Amino acid sequence: MRMYDIIQQKRDGLVLSDEQIRYFVKGYTEGSIPDYQAAALLMAIYFHGMNDHETTTLTLAMAESGELIDLSSINGITVDKHSTGGVGDKTSLIIAPCVAALGYKVAKMSGRGLGHTGGTVDKLESIPGYRTSLDKQEFFDNVNKIGIALVGQSGNLAPADKKIYALRDVTATVGSLPLIVSSIMSKKIAAGSQNILLDVKVGTGSFTPDLKDAVKLAEKMVEVGKLAGRNIAALITNMDVPLGKAIGNSMEIKEACEVLKNQGPCDLTEVCVELSTYMVWLCTNDSYEKCKSRVVQSLNNGTAFNKFRELVIQQGGDVRYIDNLDLFEKTAFSYDVLALEDGFIYSMNTTAIGEVSLMLGAGREKKEDSIDYSAGIYIHAKTGDKIKRGQVLATLYTNKKGILHEAENEYNKAVKISKNAPKEQKLIYQLVK
Ligand code: URA
Repeated sequence: MRMYDIIQQKRDGLVLSDEQIRYFVKGYTEGSIPDYQAAALLMAIYFHGMNDHETTTLTLAMAESGELIDLSSINGITVDKHSTGGVGDKTSLIIAPCVAALGYKVAKMSGRGLGHTGGTVDKLESIPGYRTSLDKQEFFDNVNKIGIALVGQSGNLAPADKKIYALRDVTATVGSLPLIVSSIMSKKIAAGSQNILLDVKVGTGSFTPDLKDAVKLAEKMVEVGKLAGRNIAALITNMDVPLGKAIGNSMEIKEACEVLKNQGPCDLTEVCVELSTYMVWLCTNDSYEKCKSRVVQSLNNGTAFNKFRELVIQQGGDVRYIDNLDLFEKTAFSYDVLALEDGFIYSMNTTAIGEVSLMLGAGREKKEDSIDYSAGIYIHAKTGDKIKRGQVLATLYTNKKGILHEAENEYNKAVKISKNAPKEQKLIYQLVK
């Protein structure tokens, strides 16, 4: 078999065989296929797509490129969740302990920030001492002991995705449906949970700004998950506006704690309740109402928050920070962005707002950059809010004073103010199952 022929076939819009797809995944992961040939194939896939069978084969080949985690030593029903990524999306920090507090086992591997989107692992590392890397035995033992472990992806989980993703990132081939499906589902299948809930984001802060594309993405991922024998569903949720009010690592930990105590922003709380409800539903097949009332109770009676405390202690984090959120380090500078006119916030370019948080130091602009855990944005006014000239729209937090003026300009550019109120948007669009 020759890689040249595989590229040519896809370039001409033809269907690839299982053998050809597996040859590419194996060869590229092992290093026998060079970046330039892999990049050419990815671009051909970007333009011509893949049919359902090709997408499934690619996903399974990528999942099997590394270790397939066997969760059979975990006693109980396992459940996992994956978001396609957004700004201010700290839902994993809330729903994982919430669902674990109800008795379901969450053995979760999460990612770091990607592009303008934040990552759960970076957020957890803002808690002094918290270990995001556990060996396999400790990972399993923790789940058996307290019902939850939240760690970073192990090096050998879908290594094909690691290489292919890095190449897509620099060859303008991220936004391809079969490539996103295979990237996400290879990791979820390899991570081993029987029940999987996907949170597919739609809007200006997501990788799928268009609802039709988000639904198509959700349908394909659910289909591939089912073919791999998993109990899976997807919820389509809004990412046209940042989720909650806090963007930035330790700021998001604080906000997650507020939601876990049922004192957080309404939008974030609502999305977390819906996601947790559907995770419990996947585990039990009970009615939506019954699952939801259990979830709401675990937020109201403190068991979800206590489970998060247990998780932090179990993974070596300093729980004093969770008990007293004021202990988190503060940035040297803070700056209020003021509204330049009266009106309504008509829209927010959420990707651009995510990029402002990167400028402030909350994420990486290059792979090797380190993160300033205390940097970020606190949003005071969001889409639909009526505002007056001079009112504080957001507060920027940073240790890089020189960046404040540019960050303010970029924030202002990202927020569109109009005399007219925008149409109200849905927070939860639909369930795909
Ligand atoms: N998240 C992933 O893990 N992969 C993608 O391709 C997009 C979002």
